[in-house]
Amino acid sequence: MKIIQSKHNIQLSQLGFGAMNLPLEDTNQTESILDTALDNGITYIDTADLYQKGQNEIAIGRFMRQRKNRHKITLLSKVGNEFNPLNDEVKWNPSKEYIMSAIKDSLSRLQTDYLDMYLLHGGMIEDNKDETIDAFETLKKEGLIRSYGISSIRPNVIDYYIKHSNIDVIMMQFNLFDNRPLDILPSLVNNNIKLLARGPLSKGVLTDKYATISNSKFNDGFLGFSKDEMISTIQTLENQFQLPIQTIAMLYQLIYSNGAIVCGASKLEQLNKNIEHYHSAVQFLTETNIDTCKNIFETHVKSIVYKEHLV
Ligand SMILES: NC(=O)c1ccc[n+]([C@@H]2O[C@H](COP(=O)([O-])OP(=O)(O)OC[C@H]3O[C@@H](n4cnc5c(N)ncnc54)[C@H](OP(=O)(O)O)[C@@H]3O)[C@@H](O)[C@H]2O)c1
Repeated sequence: MKIIQSKHNIQLSQLGFGAMNLPLEDTNQTESILDTALDNGITYIDTADLYQKGQNEIAIGRFMRQRKNRHKITLLSKVGNEFNPLNDEVKWNPSKEYIMSAIKDSLSRLQTDYLDMYLLHGGMIEDNKDETIDAFETLKKEGLIRSYGISSIRPNVIDYYIKHSNIDVIMMQFNLFDNRPLDILPSLVNNNIKLLARGPLSKGVLTDKYATISNSKFNDGFLGFSKDEMISTIQTLENQFQLPIQTIAMLYQLIYSNGAIVCGASKLEQLNKNIEHYHSAVQFLTETNIDTCKNIFETHVKSIVYKEHLV
């Protein structure tokens, strides 16, 4: 497994595990998924305080305590969505006061005394961004976090953080259908900020299950793609590359992204397939000219442009 090193020396396995959809109701399956991830060199685990209202962090904390493997994991969590477990209300809160208290709750749920990365889980240009940055810098000085970043697609927010903070990473949805980050990637590369690409399989449609998943999850299409366009793009790419779409989805990440692929799974068999296709894509790229691949992608995948929240 390739390791991506951030500018603040955080090591991320190129294939990360997005824990958001862990099947928490099935403890054995949850533990098998996490064990399998680590056994296959996936050391970057991505969670958030909000996922399953804190239960996701609790499950990962329990797993790390039982396995005594905290030191083997690059642990990322997120903050900014203040939730009330009693009534399910979520309120956006990027204030320093809230972040300084929310980290303590996350660390307690995760049964650890530091996070490798802490991300602002969203963000708007109207936020008091300097106050948020001050909170992250203070947590770094206190040793509670090693590094920080934001999860955002908004160009104006990203631009501000690039210019006024020490962010190490930016998380964005990035895949063949949501390729909006392609416009922002050159700026990330220039500033040595790593992309954390979430949704690489577009909720599973970029797998051999595309016929059923496009019906169940994308009947109304997605961004600029109708459901039929999604299916015909998948079939065209499979013909062009002579590869399964899931390998192509991983290949797309390896070619265009400078960071880690944050792939989720709710079943062990999904994780095993995701690992297998990641390795197939790595192997394919060693044998194939990258410009040939880029040419296929640029000819057959429609570009989606983000037109709001511009700098
Ligand atoms: N704003 C943010 O910061 C933000 C937002 C969203 C996600 N994230 C992070 O990014 C991670 C990944 O995001 P995501 O869950 O949207 O991305 P994803 O990896 O594209 O989708 C994961 C889902 O796709 C399906 N899937 C995965 N592997 C499959 C396979 N081999 N075959 C068929 N279906 C498969 C599963 O759906 P089913 O469970 O329905 O089977 C799984 O839950 C999350 O876990 C989370 O850590 C961050």
